[in-house]
Amino acid sequence: MADAYSRDLERWIPRLIAVWRQARRKGDGPETRLTPQEIKEVGAGVKQLSHGLTRERQLAGAKYMDDPRLLGAYLLFYWPVSYAQARQALGELPNRPRQVLDLGSGPGPLAFAALDAGAAEVTAADRSKPALTLARALAAEAGEALATREWDPTRKAAPPEGQFDLITMGHVLNELYGTGDGVTAPRAALLEQLLTQVKKNGSLLVMEPALRETSRALLKVRDVLVGKGYGVRAPCMFRGNCPALLKESDWCHAERSWPMPRVVEELARAAGLHKESLKMSYLVVAPKGEAWPELPRGRLFRIVSEPLEGKGRQRYIGCGPEGRVGLAMQDKHRTEKNERFFKLHRGDVIAVTETEPKGDGFALDDRSEVRIVAQAGRGVPPPSPEEEPRPTAPTPQGSDPLP
Ligand SMILES: C[S@@+](CC[C@H](N)C(=O)[O-])C[C@H]1O[C@@H](n2cnc3c(N)ncnc32)[C@H](O)[C@@H]1O
Repeated sequence: MADAYSRDLERWIPRLIAVWRQARRKGDGPETRLTPQEIKEVGAGVKQLSHGLTRERQLAGAKYMDDPRLLGAYLLFYWPVSYAQARQALGELPNRPRQVLDLGSGPGPLAFAALDAGAAEVTAADRSKPALTLARALAAEAGEALATREWDPTRKAAPPEGQFDLITMGHVLNELYGTGDGVTAPRAALLEQLLTQVKKNGSLLVMEPALRETSRALLKVRDVLVGKGYGVRAPCMFRGNCPALLKESDWCHAERSWPMPRVVEELARAAGLHKESLKMSYLVVAPKGEAWPELPRGRLFRIVSEPLEGKGRQRYIGCGPEGRVGLAMQDKHRTEKNERFFKLHRGDVIAVTETEPKGDGFALDDRSEVRIVAQAGRGVPPPSPEEEPRPTAPTPQGSDPLP
């Protein structure tokens, strides 16, 4: 999966470095690398941004993009991360979007990811003028056409007009309308308004940090939309209220391997961070009136945990049309037809047979078959034409009925 965009990502690194050096009007250096002094300087900005956006979150919603030092740190560290996350998420869309609107774009990682993935017309919108200036500089450096607009939904400024195949919002929803329980309604209302600008068969993609707080906040917004009849294209296959919200300690996020560029690796080291894998919470919503995607036949589960190895057995949390459940198999039950179970990744979608209810879910045994339906980062394929329609899944207790 990573190979599909790793060359594109690699090509962005000298552009990011060149635009950053131009913006600060200081210093020459190697095209594809930062000097040790630059690493030290930018690494301090990355550390400050990381603390401000993840720990106390005092920077969430603040105008950090207007501080040249923090904007530089964003450009050289978080930009490649968001770009790679977006390329992964775009891989799950059912079709290639042509017209794209990227809201809360910052310096445009999602906008450029969409262009590299084949979009023809992309508009990036944000409230930060300096971030949009950098996005335009990157477009010039790459020879890409990118339109930019100022946009701030909290000031009731309407988004750019028009209908789009895809609207993206990368790590911005959690910065809108403050914090606390009151944020769900205005965030859901904003997404609902934006969904009126998504064309038939198009999508709204929302990516958020994989923190418990921001992930759960996104799941609550999801539940409002699902309750109003919107279909989720990814990652959910469960059509009721999100079962991860039942327990305060649960949340839902994706984790993918990625071709981490050297500059990100060096900055992560300087800032004392880890970015070996990409983690994010995300949601792809279909416009109003469109049904949930039809699923292939079989008992499907998306793996939503890391492997939870125990003594003599393998275990994961799976989430599918039946809800969120534990899935476990003892090593002694390994056969040719189920051995894939022992090598699953978070995000993989599997079909299983022959399960027995056990504990918080199901136990698989030597009669069980385990088949990969979609690898993490790939869309779940529709049923093949010869398959009969899938029966409606029962709704587990404590959840709303299927819409
Ligand atoms: C964490 S950055 C994300 C940038 C980019 N989308 C990405 O995924 O890397 C959050 C962005 O949201 C923008 N933002 C925050 N509050 C906003 C608001 N009220 N109106 C418009 N943009 C806002 C910030 O200026 C910033 O560019």
